[in-house]
Amino acid sequence: MQVDTKTPVHQAAQSESPGWQRLVRAGQDLLRYAPHISRELLAFRDLPREPELDLVMEDGEHVAAYAAAGRVENTTLASYLFHTAHCTETIAGARRVVDLGCGPAIQLLQIAALNPDAEFIGVDLSTEMLDVARQELSRAGLTNVSLRRADITDLSFLDDDSVDGVVSTMTLHHLPTADDLTRCFLEIRRVLTPPGAIYLTDFCRLRSNRSVHFFSHLNEHDLPAAVILDAERSMRAAFTRRDYARRMRLLSTSVRLRSTFLVPLLMIMHTPRRVLSGDVRRRLAAMRSELSPRICGALDDLRSFFRMGGLHSNPFSWDN
Ligand SMILES: C[S@@+](CC[C@H](N)C(=O)[O-])C[C@H]1O[C@@H](n2cnc3c(N)ncnc32)[C@H](O)[C@@H]1O
Repeated sequence: MQVDTKTPVHQAAQSESPGWQRLVRAGQDLLRYAPHISRELLAFRDLPREPELDLVMEDGEHVAAYAAAGRVENTTLASYLFHTAHCTETIAGARRVVDLGCGPAIQLLQIAALNPDAEFIGVDLSTEMLDVARQELSRAGLTNVSLRRADITDLSFLDDDSVDGVVSTMTLHHLPTADDLTRCFLEIRRVLTPPGAIYLTDFCRLRSNRSVHFFSHLNEHDLPAAVILDAERSMRAAFTRRDYARRMRLLSTSVRLRSTFLVPLLMIMHTPRRVLSGDVRRRLAAMRSELSPRICGALDDLRSFFRMGGLHSNPFSWDN
């Protein structure tokens, strides 16, 4: 994306906004979300889980809409860059990393470009998705990524202790049952050489239909209707934060579970962060500065909600 970096508004977005400004923004968001937050905090029961209709994303139109949303300027870019940065902080120094449910590989390619010394294997069960991923890969011209059709609950193509990093973004909710989530975690533990790096992120299931509707439609001005519908279905199919907390120890004792503050709409399970080189930090800061102020704001909102939820690191800062 080409952005005029000389405009004052863009220059303002390039630098880190002061902490108090971010706090004010987070406070304003909290006020806006207050009815939904209180409804979620007061609800006794989780919504029943509604597994995805398109468990493995094979529908051509659905695949095309999902991939297209990651290529144009919208809030999806903020989410990609957020996970690229935090995932890179988790896997830094890993040599062989597997991405479970890589989909169109837009997220994977951003991570792989920033970690050229690591070899990445993108796994997906959908041939449609893998076709799109192959096109993206050839466009990007990266040589450290390969793709593989496989089920993330059965990674038998990988030997025990054969990778030192496992990542997965927005995929676990596609698993049909909680037993499949357990199977997937046991496979992660089997293929990962200890101590290994783990970065898994996805939605968590909310407790009320109105909250699901509100949060899935938050960016409806910005995203195609098909992507909004996909987000709503994903939230209904998501596992609960408790489902993840109960299975955390299957992965490793060093895994931490973070979620967005007050309402666990999104979660990240990760092993301890590692030291990033100055070069990687500079590149991340540059990628952030290339976002338009609006998308940069969306990125900072995500950072604030995870920071208040306990994810304190700032991979976009040069001086950590
Ligand atoms: C919502 S997409 C996420 C793609 C990508 N990780 C991202 O962040 O954009 C979920 C992907 O998981 C894949 N998937 C679903 N169930 C799977 C399974 N059991 N094994 C492998 N891939 C699966 C789907 O085909 C789809 O490509």
